[in-house]
Amino acid sequence: MDHPTQFQAYRTQAEEAILQYLPPVDTRPERLHAAMAYSLQAGGKRLRPILLLAARDLFADGPNALPAAAALECLHSYTLIHDDLPCMDDSDLRRGKPACHVQFDEATAVLAGDALLTHAFHLLGTAYAEHPRTAARLVAILGEAAGSQRLIGGQMEDIANEGRNPGPKTLDYIHRNKTAALLTASLHMGATLGGADEAQVHKLLQLGECLGLTFQIVDDLLDQSASPADIGKPVLADSENQKTTYLSVYGPEEARNRIDALTGQAASLCESLAGPGSFLEWLARKLATRAT
Ligand code: IPE
Ligand code: IPE
Ligand code: MG
Ligand code: MG
Ligand code: MG
Repeated sequence: MDHPTQFQAYRTQAEEAILQYLPPVDTRPERLHAAMAYSLQAGGKRLRPILLLAARDLFADGPNALPAAAALECLHSYTLIHDDLPCMDDSDLRRGKPACHVQFDEATAVLAGDALLTHAFHLLGTAYAEHPRTAARLVAILGEAAGSQRLIGGQMEDIANEGRNPGPKTLDYIHRNKTAALLTASLHMGATLGGADEAQVHKLLQLGECLGLTFQIVDDLLDQSASPADIGKPVLADSENQKTTYLSVYGPEEARNRIDALTGQAASLCESLAGPGSFLEWLARKLATRAT
């Protein structure tokens, strides 16, 4: 299978897993389950499940990776619903559709986010009940990455530093935590499911940081240069909210240099893990040049 076909195959598997492992929309309370399904099924690149499946496939066969892939996307979608709330980034467009709090209402959006977050851990606990060591590792990895010292910590400093221009160290903290933490956890969870050894896990963690930092620098660039039709969310929102971004700290030229350097590092990590020309190396380059 060539890499673009493999990418589509992972994406399809992720989409099917999301449908399969989410409570049906007609479950009571219908409005809550409708809001959960609305945000989760609105589209989205499904990058985190794809990273998990690709990392798992580097190693021997383990337990079914699809529930963990669905759990990751549930957790990610919760972060987007809450990120868009008026008290956060106050954004009314997500994945090309009205944001959850616009389509429903704020209370429903808060609760849909809460429910997706909770569902992610319920899914891991139930789907891997017959593999308790794996279940415990997956819960620990996701819990740490999504928690107060990583993803939520990054979101806190992102919000707390609006209008303050705090400089490179804080920018690095924000990017590593609000974004790279969950991308790294996706690779780590895949490696855990595939039975990777410690040295392989170590390389995948480094790869996750490179991909995560690249991903957020590109996200910051696209906020300035893309159209809402391309990215499915408002543009120029970061400057409007006076966010600390790679552009506000370093400017666009340095952003491109950093993306190139990180992608070079990512490519050599992929080579040492999987040899030349791997799917993950192709994906690293795709993320560096993405326009959507
Ligand atoms: C958006 O994530 C939030 C960031 C970390 C920049 P994605 O760009 O992966 O959003 P979807 O899932 O494709 O909508
Ligand atoms: C959001 O970062 C990261 C998380 C949701 C954890 P952004 O605020 O830059 O994401 P977008 O641009 O709204 O997708
Ligand atoms: Mg934000
Ligand atoms: Mg935002
Ligand atoms: Mg952004």
